[in-house]
Amino acid sequence: MLKIAVLVSGSGSNLQAIIDNIESGYLNCSIEAVISDKKDAYGIDRAKAKDIKTYILDRKQLGINISSEILKILDGKVDLIVLAGFLSILQGELLHVFKNKIINIHPALIPCFCGGGMYGMKVHEKAIEYGVKVSGCTVHFVDEGTDSGPIIIQKVVDVYSTDTAKDLQLRVLKQEHKALSEAIKYISDGRITIKGRKVLGI
Ligand code: GRF
Repeated sequence: MLKIAVLVSGSGSNLQAIIDNIESGYLNCSIEAVISDKKDAYGIDRAKAKDIKTYILDRKQLGINISSEILKILDGKVDLIVLAGFLSILQGELLHVFKNKIINIHPALIPCFCGGGMYGMKVHEKAIEYGVKVSGCTVHFVDEGTDSGPIIIQKVVDVYSTDTAKDLQLRVLKQEHKALSEAIKYISDGRITIKGRKVLGI
């Protein structure tokens, strides 16, 4: 069984989707830890409700040391780290120890509307402002860059001329809930290989 940690900063609806998919039997994995970089993240409440071990690492207090704190908690304990709306940027030794073992969900079709500073509602505001006809979400491996690692899955949604950023966010979020669990399933089934930028086996 694949052991995972889920890292959150906010509502944790993606975490909840993973929990639901484990309970339904779709995912054969166990959540060993939920880590938040914000003490009031609702994702922590969702984890506690399921008796999952939780950790709060204050990003303001820890600054760039947050990655080494995460490594201390998770080294040797999990097979995969899932960033599910986690806002701190990871770096250093953590990325080496967990090379190709950290995945992230981004609420746009990378390489559009991604990179430094592109998170939360800003992503959807930019997509609407640009006038794109489709947007979506991307699950990718995490490397040293921001939203730059090999892409595992993308899901597409329509963008309508009447959409607000909030409308688009909600439409994309529904697809995020599916995409993140699908990616975890591919990894736990041992289907995936990485060749350069390409993720094969999907
Ligand atoms: C999602 O849109 C995720 O892609 C983004 O932050 C949001 C987190 O949602 N990075 P939730 O906390 O899983 O509800």
